[in-house]
Amino acid sequence: MDLGLQGRACIVTGASKGIGLAIARLLVQEGARVLLVARGEAALRAAAEELGAAWHAADVTGPQAAEAIVAACERAFGSVDVLVNNAGLAEIRDLDELTDAEWQRDWDLHVMASMRLMRAACPRMAANGWGRVVNVSSSSGKRPSGTLAMSYSVTKAAQLALSRAFADRYAAQGVRVNAIAPGMALSEGWTAPGGLADQLARRRGVSREEVLRAQGGRLPIGRALEVDEVARIAVVLCSELASGVAGAAWSVDGGVHASIV
Ligand SMILES: NC(=O)c1ccc[n+]([C@@H]2O[C@H](COP(=O)([O-])OP(=O)(O)OC[C@H]3O[C@@H](n4cnc5c(N)ncnc54)[C@H](OP(=O)(O)O)[C@@H]3O)[C@@H](O)[C@H]2O)c1
Repeated sequence: MDLGLQGRACIVTGASKGIGLAIARLLVQEGARVLLVARGEAALRAAAEELGAAWHAADVTGPQAAEAIVAACERAFGSVDVLVNNAGLAEIRDLDELTDAEWQRDWDLHVMASMRLMRAACPRMAANGWGRVVNVSSSSGKRPSGTLAMSYSVTKAAQLALSRAFADRYAAQGVRVNAIAPGMALSEGWTAPGGLADQLARRRGVSREEVLRAQGGRLPIGRALEVDEVARIAVVLCSELASGVAGAAWSVDGGVHASIV
């Protein structure tokens, strides 16, 4: 099936590793032109070289970052057709440990950065009569996680509401805004040294392998997802195939969110 992504100009934030890199790789395989965004320049440059993509190093939470990222995409490719708001951060923190600064950090990253990027990109897409936005939220946005920081779950829920608001605003102008709500996926966020597996292992006094096995076993499919399993659904929503989908919050969680809607 042709996804209709050939030549499309795409921005993927958080694209130097994990789910974002997997999304960018699939977009490139579909013939799209992709701008990778993340803070760490070395990993970003390596990813861009591997994929033959463009890159722009930025912290998406900077107040001017969104305009600069969209401008970089237009400089590189002449337009912006697809935006994937994927940059995000999860940590293990108890509710009563969370500081105001951590709540603010998660709000700035999951909500304000996504909002500013959509505010910059959607009017340009609407002017062209075609656009796609995918906001990478989380199953924790549909049902607060008992494992991850509550600031993560609450701001991921807000990201879902934000996605719906932009979907309604731009649906009639050819711009499809949707979200995905992944469950546990084996990205660097989980597996890198100091990542979620190590943080949980320290708290529980078990090995990181035991953590990964136990957490993966909580998914109805019996295992954690591979990042490509999440990326494939994101890319469908970036594509021509999603012409009839607007305002969705598509669970890609191995069945973890126990709801029929
Ligand atoms: N993996 C899962 O189990 C899972 C489940 C549900 C939802 N998600 C969501 O999926 C998305 C990707 O998660 P992941 O697990 O693939 O993460 P990851 O492996 O930790 O990668 C995160 C990416 O985001 C970038 N990033 C982080 N903060 C940034 C900032 N302020 N500005 C620009 N880039 C930033 C990182 O690069 P730099 O650090 O160099 O900036 C990196 O490229 C996140 O939104 C996450 O909440 C993940």
